[in-house]
Formats: sequence, structure tokens, C-alpha cells
Amino acid sequence: MSRIAAAVLAACLVLPAASAQESDREIGTALKPEEIARFFAIQPGGIGLPAGRGTADEGREVYNQKCFYCHGEKLEGNRDMAGPALAGGRGSLATDKPLKTVESYWPQASTLFDYIWRAMPFDQPGSLTTDEVYALVAYILSTGNVIDGKQPMDAKVLSRVTMPNANGFYDGSGPDLRIYRAGRDGP
Ligand code: HEC
Repeated sequence: MSRIAAAVLAACLVLPAASAQESDREIGTALKPEEIARFFAIQPGGIGLPAGRGTADEGREVYNQKCFYCHGEKLEGNRDMAGPALAGGRGSLATDKPLKTVESYWPQASTLFDYIWRAMPFDQPGSLTTDEVYALVAYILSTGNVIDGKQPMDAKVLSRVTMPNANGFYDGSGPDLRIYRAGRDGP
């Protein structure tokens, strides 16, 4: 192959690659911090909760439009739609008929925000605004008598909520736990 032919071939190989890189850079737009935040779970204790606020009264309205048909008018659940109860069952976990709900079971209030924001409504996940999610959290927690529902809910208020079953969990599970901890605090 002559030098000129080799140079032309090299140029042909390089050029398409360079133009592909150029066009890659033009795809999409830069994400805003709040959009990126949606990819990360909100930590127990509320780390990562976004800005926004909502009241229990506002939450009732959103609930009655977007949630009640699967979770029941009084958050009691709706078997026909496979929607679990969201309130009630407090103190039932150690009985013959345990009812696991947000009120009776969930150890962290921040998980409620994370879960609703990410996964609900079941048929339209990701469609709620942060204000709507704070309002729904306020409504669900006040229906379960975890909070009184008068104070608007936001990141600060939510991170201070103590759930009724907060101390009902062990730190880890299974017989392996001792082995994992061996390096830290002895077998
Ligand atoms: C089309 C039915 C449907 C709608 C509408 C719906 N949900 Fe759900 N929801 C479900 C189902 C089904 C589950 C259980 C999902 C699972 O366990 O994987 C669930 C689970 C939940 C849970 C977790 C309960 C638990 O103890 O595990 C919460 C909280 C919740 N939904 C809140 C809401 C809120 C708030 C709305 C309204 C914005 C809503 N849901 C709308 C069907 C629905």
C-alpha cells in the first residue's frame, strides 16, 4: 500500500469516529441536581429529602384523586386492587393477626416519602410533585396518629418524625451477623 493510500485510509477510519463523538455530545440535556437526586434513595433520617412542603388537608385531596381506589377510602386497603392498608394495625405485629402497615411496621418516616415519590401511584410512578408527596406523607402519618397533622410537612419536619415501630427491628439478621462483625467488635 502506498503512503498516500495509507494516509487516506487512516483519515477515513478516524473521521467517522470523530464525528460520532461530536454528535454524542449533542444528545440530551444536562440534568439538574433535583433530577439526579431522583436516582438515589432517601436515607433513613431524611438525608437527601428534596425541597417542598404540603399539608395533611392537601394530602387528603391528592389521596382521594390518585390513591383511594387502590388503598381504600380510609387507608384500610382494597383487596380487589391488591392495594395494601396504609394505616392501622398498631400493636398487632406480635399477635396472631399481624397487620403490617406504614403505621404499625415501617421504622423510618423518610422511607414513606422515598417510596411514594418513586413508586406511587402504582399505575403512574414518578408522576407526583414533591409538594404532593409531602402532603400525602402528612395525610398518611396523621391518619395513623403518628403526627397531629397541623404542621405543614417538609424535609425538616419529616426527618424529626419517630415512627411507632422504630425500635422493633434488630440491627441485621441471620446467624452470619456475628461473623461479619468479628472484625469490629469480636465474635
Ligand atoms: C393502581 C393501584 C394503586 C394506586 C392508584 C396506588 N397504589 Fe400504592 N400500592 C399499590 C400496590 C399494589 C402496592 C403494593 C406494592 C408492592 O408490595 O410491591 C402499593 C403499595 C403502597 C405503599 C407501601 C405499603 C406497604 O406497607 O408496603 C404505599 C405507602 C403506597 N402504596 C402509597 C400510595 C399512594 C400515596 C398513592 C397515591 C398517590 C398510591 N399508593 C396509589 C397499588 C396502588
